[in-house]
Amino acid sequence: MTQSSAQSSVPFLPFVKPEIDEETIQGVVDVLRSGWITTGPQNQAFEAALSEYCGGRPVRTFNSGTATLEIGLRIAGVGPGDEVITTPASWVSTSNVIYEVGATPVFADIDPLTRNIDLDKLEAAITPRTKAIIPVFLSGLPVDMDRLYAIARQHKLRVIEDAAQAFGASWNGKRIGELGDIVSFSFHANKNLTAIEGGALVLNNEDEAELARKYRLQGITRTGLDGMDCDVLGGKYNLTDVAARVGLGQLKHIERFTLQRRNLAKAYFAGFEGGAAVKLGMGLPHADFANSNWHMFQITLPLEKLTLTRAEFMEQLKERGIGSGVHYPAIHLFTLYRERGFRAGMFPHAERFGATTVTLPLFTLMTEADVARVCHAVNDICTQFAK
Ligand SMILES: Cc1ncc(COP(=O)(O)O)c(C=O)c1O
Repeated sequence: MTQSSAQSSVPFLPFVKPEIDEETIQGVVDVLRSGWITTGPQNQAFEAALSEYCGGRPVRTFNSGTATLEIGLRIAGVGPGDEVITTPASWVSTSNVIYEVGATPVFADIDPLTRNIDLDKLEAAITPRTKAIIPVFLSGLPVDMDRLYAIARQHKLRVIEDAAQAFGASWNGKRIGELGDIVSFSFHANKNLTAIEGGALVLNNEDEAELARKYRLQGITRTGLDGMDCDVLGGKYNLTDVAARVGLGQLKHIERFTLQRRNLAKAYFAGFEGGAAVKLGMGLPHADFANSNWHMFQITLPLEKLTLTRAEFMEQLKERGIGSGVHYPAIHLFTLYRERGFRAGMFPHAERFGATTVTLPLFTLMTEADVARVCHAVNDICTQFAK
């Protein structure tokens, strides 16, 4: 009997699955029946609820966490001739948006412990052309925010926090979104708080919020139809009310979501402790249970000690009824970036992480027994395929 047929009675465990409650589903139905389905009252309510969550700071919703990053850069005045420092270990939109506004991305390698941008390397990468920093809170683990903002203040740099993965995370007891400069969230389907797709910008004042509103929809000013005008070059980035209703339904549960994820992450650490995978050199995430929202649980494979590739390892997991993902191959090695001068060897920690990382299942609808099953499968594969 093959592995897969032996375990076919066990339901497949995906690496992520959103938890949407019945009230939210009914709320979406109500929106669909209401006669107003695009940006409207649900967005207003979502913005107000997000603002309250972020300590009263102004918030504007968008249709993605990519749009928020791009508009965040525009609001910070970043454009042609400017450099923006960021990490090569992220989803590629983090740096694509820098090109999008006509500026130049400058990468600083990651700290292999946290997998976030190494703040010493960030500081060393600052030049007279540096205008802003986009730190990414990978897996929802914030960077050292005190140090980050000390650097930003000293060098007079704007910060656009790529907190796409960090909704629900905190820094020394304060929520991400409550502190800092411009903060960008994503509500993509896989995020801890989803609106199916979507994003939000947390801003410093009403002037920035008004600019965000204009950039979000063709730059039009708020005047009535007779006096309609457009005074900045905006795009089409507004969030639908259906999406906003989903986000509102999720927001109610965010504290529980974060707590459950932290507990599942703890179960992973307990499940891997002393096992074959760790003994072979498998890497675990930074064990932060105070700040991180545990958006993902990412291991790194000791490929030099195994007879299979990462893809084959993931295939083995799949045969055991377990889904997995890769987040993320180092951005600077993508063709577009190589064509713009980036090369292998420039950011070795991000390259190694990108080549060896595997994201294991972590979502609120799974149980500690599921975690134990994943740990068992990982150890089993490592034992079976050890060199
Ligand atoms: C770190 C990071 N930045 C930016 C984004 C972009 O967000 P979106 O997919 O909502 O455009 C994502 C989403 O995957 C992300 O994980």
